[in-house]
Amino acid sequence: MGKNEIKSLTRARDFIFKKTSIKPEIGVILGSGLGAFAEQLKDSTVIPYSKIPGFQRSQVKGHSNELFLGKLRNKTVAVMKGRYHYYEGYSIFDVTFPVRTLHALGVKKLIITNAAGSLKKSIPPGSLMFIKDHINLSGKNPLIGISSEFGEKFVDLTDAYSKKLLKPAQAVAKKLMIKVKSGVYVFLTGPSYETPAEVKMLEKLGGTAVGMSTVPEVIVANQLGLDVLGISSITNFASGLSSGKIHHKEVIEVNKRTSKAFIKLLKNIILHI
Ligand code: HPA
Repeated sequence: MGKNEIKSLTRARDFIFKKTSIKPEIGVILGSGLGAFAEQLKDSTVIPYSKIPGFQRSQVKGHSNELFLGKLRNKTVAVMKGRYHYYEGYSIFDVTFPVRTLHALGVKKLIITNAAGSLKKSIPPGSLMFIKDHINLSGKNPLIGISSEFGEKFVDLTDAYSKKLLKPAQAVAKKLMIKVKSGVYVFLTGPSYETPAEVKMLEKLGGTAVGMSTVPEVIVANQLGLDVLGISSITNFASGLSSGKIHHKEVIEVNKRTSKAFIKLLKNIILHI
């Protein structure tokens, strides 16, 4: 990863700035079934990922593959309505390219959301969770093979989920009386869900929820010096914690039901960070 990738980053940034005069300060990545938030922005410019140099597109239901640039009151915001995943066959570099692009547009704070399975009986589907830390069990790291032009290789992840954002976000949730847990997100590549034995192990290792995204983006965001806030929407009990089987359809449906609280929370957090 070197000169050519830097060029495609510049191309992506220049292309986007030809379409909009918005200079986004906050970025948002919306996970499976959480896309409705994008419509909250005022005076949006909407750009399909397929038009942006270097962007890929997700084939997964619940991801609409559009970048929104607009305003929430006095805040300028870039929202990725859907993301593409490592499990879709894209490289770990491709998957994190949008984070580099958001940074190149001027984003300083990044809110990353996802759908996740609960590893705890006490956290049922329909819950929201602030991510306070993660465990990367994928064996993948988006900084492998990255040239120094992209930034520091040995990135410190002590404050990967910035307390500067987490604290005000928790205060906003409390004020709105929206219950939001906090916990540790475990990243596996998927796309198969876990086995019951794996789920027991993940919980023993200190995990609270499990999913197939977010962590590569968070690592790159930290390399770029962005403050990150992570929010999981818990869509199901992970395998073995309930008698039923897990279906992607259920993930989308639960997120549709949580959508109202999620949108309210996200909107207010953006106005307060
Ligand atoms: N496991 C992994 N990823 C997920 C899950 C799950 O149970 N639910 C939503 N994304």
